[in-house]
This record gives sequence, structure tokens and C-alpha cells, in this order.
Amino acid sequence: MERVRGRFVVLAVTGSIAVYKMIELARRLTQAGATVQVVMTRSATEFVTPLTFQAITYRPVEVEMFAMQDERAAGHVAMGREADVVVVAPATAHVLARLAHGFSDDLIATTVLATDAPVIVAPAMETHMWQNPATQANVSALRARGVRVVEPESGPLASGEAGPGRLAALERIASAIDDALATSGALAGRHVVVTAGPTVEAIDPVRFVSNRSSGKMGYAIAAAARDAGAEVTLVTGPTAIAPPAGVRTFRVESAEELRDAVLATLPRADAVVMAAAVADYRPIERVDRKLKKKELGRELTLRLIENPDVLKAIVAARRPGTIVVGFKAETGDATAEAGRMLREKKLDLVVANDVSDPRSGFGSEDDRVAFVSADGVEQLDLLPKSDVARRLVAKLAERLGSP
Ligand code: CTP
Repeated sequence: MERVRGRFVVLAVTGSIAVYKMIELARRLTQAGATVQVVMTRSATEFVTPLTFQAITYRPVEVEMFAMQDERAAGHVAMGREADVVVVAPATAHVLARLAHGFSDDLIATTVLATDAPVIVAPAMETHMWQNPATQANVSALRARGVRVVEPESGPLASGEAGPGRLAALERIASAIDDALATSGALAGRHVVVTAGPTVEAIDPVRFVSNRSSGKMGYAIAAAARDAGAEVTLVTGPTAIAPPAGVRTFRVESAEELRDAVLATLPRADAVVMAAAVADYRPIERVDRKLKKKELGRELTLRLIENPDVLKAIVAARRPGTIVVGFKAETGDATAEAGRMLREKKLDLVVANDVSDPRSGFGSEDDRVAFVSADGVEQLDLLPKSDVARRLVAKLAERLGSP
């Protein structure tokens, strides 16, 4: 927990039996050199007294009052502004709902609304409440806005039942805090352009040639770069997922549109991350009326032509110092192919992904990638895409240094 030294951590504790575990977290954070400001809901104080936290953090604890006057909440905007990280743990279904809907009538909600710092929530509740679509929708909404969710674990619950809902182990919450502080502000003042999703190459107004890219990786990178303080432009092909909030998003269809959109942003870009799965070919001619089977006959030959190489165009047009990252998805030796692409296309970094493993690659939640650069090959374990994205953002920050 070395990153917490000298940082201001707001620890918001809400009413769950798991409250007692936060005494240990507050102790570890304080011992590691953080200033820990504990905020408790009334119901949290039913489990542990504020005095316990006060004795451990050497600071008076704020106790939430429901139906707090707006003025008092407004006075506490300062806490959100001062925070380096806001941790809501344990987070009840109730507080998740309040945060998801942007309430501002109590201290915890106001702090989360007012802060630019990373926000971490560690839910803890009974299994059915956790699995309820209302709770899951609230968690998704928070995630989409960049809130880091430390998922609960499965195990025995206070209700006597067993299942998902137990507060995550302290080590996981502590490492989420460390991660949040690692990239927080690391890309402040930088402009990162990310491409994502497939491109769609029209045959006629209703038919097209495309690929299976979900866009998840690129969207996760855009979110991670935003969380690290960058100004982010996302150029995306059509996807089924919502782009992250707080990111300037341009929607494109074809490879040519994607290239033009990226080139337009290039003069102001400090880094370009080409996570889009650009279709390698497009139909030679696009017909602007729907083709009829009658005119096509029983056999159809589609003539395709190679699309422009967007990476090549970027490398040719970039100003010195702009970092360019390519992606290489392979069913064979992805790392070797990535190394070849790095040299041939004069890239700074290539993310190699072995898509023959069904747990990794198109549409999956996780990826097993390697970062390939002039420094060598760094193989990562199978990780959630959001973790891969954060690692990549840390690499960009390392290469860019201070603005
Ligand atoms: N890319 C690009 N322009 C294209 C095609 C791909 O800029 N017309 C980018 C992608 O965004 C990705 C990388 O190039 O970052 C993928 O490289 P590529 O060698 O085209 O990968 P594959 O399509 O897997 O190549 P191949 O099919 O030849 O193995």
C-alpha cells in the first residue's frame, strides 16, 4: 500500500454487518501514511461506533444524517474536492442505488458527486439483493461512469445462506485503492485518441461486411485513460455497448471514415491506441439501393478491395512524440507477429492477443495479452479487460512522462 502515503482517502462506510472489517482497512491505510477520513451512515454506526474509527484514524468521524439539509451537504463538497480517492465499503444495495442516481442530499452522495478523484465501491449484501436486476443495473451504471467496483465474493453470509454477496477480501479492496492511485492523474494534460469496435463496409443500404469485434477493449482503454486524467477522444465503429461517460465520442462506420476521424484528431494527440478491428477489405462498389435477388442470381461473387492501412497513415502523419499503439490478434504466435508489426509499421507498442484461447479475445470479458515494444515482450496473465486497459494506460503514462 505504498502509494497511499501522504494521500487523502475518504472511507465511506455504510450499514452492513461487514462494517467491522473496515476497522482493519482504516488501520492499514493510516499506518501506511494515508490521511483517512471516515464517513459513516447512521445504520453503519449501529454495527461499530464512530469512536472506534476515530481512535484508529486520529480524526473525527463524520456521521451521515438522512434528510440532511442541502446547505450542510453543500458545505461538504470540500471533502470530495480534497479526496485523492473515495472508497465506499461496504456499499449496501441502498447506497449503490443512491449513487447510481446521483442523489445529493447526504454527505456520501455529495462527496461522490463532487469529486474528480477515483471512486471505488465494494458492495456487500445478501445474495438475492446482489443478483437483483435493479442492483446489477445500478452497478453497471456506476461502472459506465468510471466507478471501480470490487465485486463481492461467494461464501457464507450473515443471513445464514451462502452465495455471492460477501464483502471482497481486504487485500482486494486495498489493491483497488493502490491501482486507483497508481494511474490517477498520470495522464493529466494529455490527449489520448482511442479507436474501438469493428468497421462496417456497406454492400448496399442494408447489407455489409464486418467482423466480430465487440468494442469492449477499446472502450475499457478510453475509460482507463479518462480515469488517469487524460482528455479522451473515442472513434468507434458500431457496437452494442455504451461508450464511457466523459469521453468525446465520434461514431463511424467504414475504415475510410475511421481513418479520416483519427487523422483529424492527430495534430493534438499525445497517443493513439488503435484497438479497432478495421475491416481489411471493403466491397469495391457500394450500391445505393437495395440489391434484389432477382438481379443477383443463384451465385453471388462479391469483389472486395483492400482498405487503407490506418496505422500507416497515422505513423506517416504524426508529430514527433505522439505514441502509436497497434493491436495484433492472432490464432498462432501472436507475440512474434506483433514484433514483426512493431518494426514494419514503426509503432511504439503492440498489444498481442492470442484469440485461439476462447477465454481471451473477441467478445470475451478477459484477455491474455503481451505488450511488445523495443524494450522486449511483457506477457500478462489472463485479466479482465479493464485491468489490461489500466496496465496499458500505465505504460502510456510511463512513456509520455510529464507534459
Ligand atoms: N489496422 C489498421 N488499418 C487496417 C487494418 C488494421 O490500422 N486497414 C490496425 C488495427 O487497428 C490493429 C492492427 O492494425 O491495431 C491490426 O493489424 P493487422 O496486421 O491488420 O492485423 P490483422 O488484420 O490481424 O492482419 P493479418 O490479417 O494480415 O494477419
